[in-house]
Amino acid sequence: MSELWLCSHVRSGRRLVLAVAAGVLAAFATSASAQQPPTGNARQGKIIAYTCLGCHGIKGYRNAYPDYAVPRLRGQSVTYLENALNEYRNGQRAYPTMHLQALSLSEQQIADAATYLGGKPVTAKPVAASAVPAAAAVCTSCHGSNGIGVAPMYPTLAGQHESYLIRVLHEYQTGYRQSPIMDAIAHSLTNAQIRVVAAYFSHLKPGLHTVPRPYTRWSSTH
Ligand code: HEC
Ligand code: HEC
Repeated sequence: MSELWLCSHVRSGRRLVLAVAAGVLAAFATSASAQQPPTGNARQGKIIAYTCLGCHGIKGYRNAYPDYAVPRLRGQSVTYLENALNEYRNGQRAYPTMHLQALSLSEQQIADAATYLGGKPVTAKPVAASAVPAAAAVCTSCHGSNGIGVAPMYPTLAGQHESYLIRVLHEYQTGYRQSPIMDAIAHSLTNAQIRVVAAYFSHLKPGLHTVPRPYTRWSSTH
């Protein structure tokens, strides 16, 4: 009798543990789904991104006043692109055109566009520490010696336009763009160091490139 009791006690104990574990998992899944964006659909993204390529799909296209190249997106971390679009949407990044672009998109459309625009992430071998300029050494723990973000929330810098990297580092310094991580790092850099790191990362290959524009009746054949 007592053995049976013990047995059922253990069993219910185990059930309790399982129930607690399931509860923790469910809580985790809920909090994760609250934070994680929906899974992107590249086919939908291609349709949504059509207007985006008016700027992001033209090689060497520049933003006027201030003058810098529109960022390259192909090969970029999809998670980072989603974060960036959400930051333009909520004003953490102050750029009027992108704010309006991002505002016009739903969470799902942001995921779709990011999945299409990012495409396959860039991969490359690490670069020997001796080949990394001193000013860029501190960056490699997140952005990689090869300029490729070591985790999905860290943007890939390899192959990004030099003028865009310089512009963004100044934006973090002036507070025009805000990031709890990058603000302090950017403030620690002198203008000369900004030029060195921007030159280093932008020249790394393989790296990011411009998303090819789909052929249209109006696009140039060259
Ligand atoms: C009128 C030109 C223009 C259009 C159209 C445009 N963008 Fe942008 N985009 C820019 C510029 C310029 C920047 C850099 C802004 C800055 O300095 O923060 C940018 C930045 C971005 C970034 C941040 C990249 C990074 O590395 O930080 C993402 C992501 C992006 N755009 C996605 C999109 C998507 C998606 C669309 C379409 C829904 C779109 N853009 C439409 C000009 C444009
Ligand atoms: C602790 C991790 C970490 C370190 C170290 C770090 N970064 Fe970053 N970096 C980030 C994160 C996170 C972001 C994205 C912030 C945002 O969304 O604005 C970022 C964004 C950037 C961007 C904007 C990229 C884009 O596409 O718009 C540049 C440029 C950049 N970092 C350069 C550097 C340089 C140069 C260094 C070294 C001097 C450095 N970072 C060190 C984490 C780091």
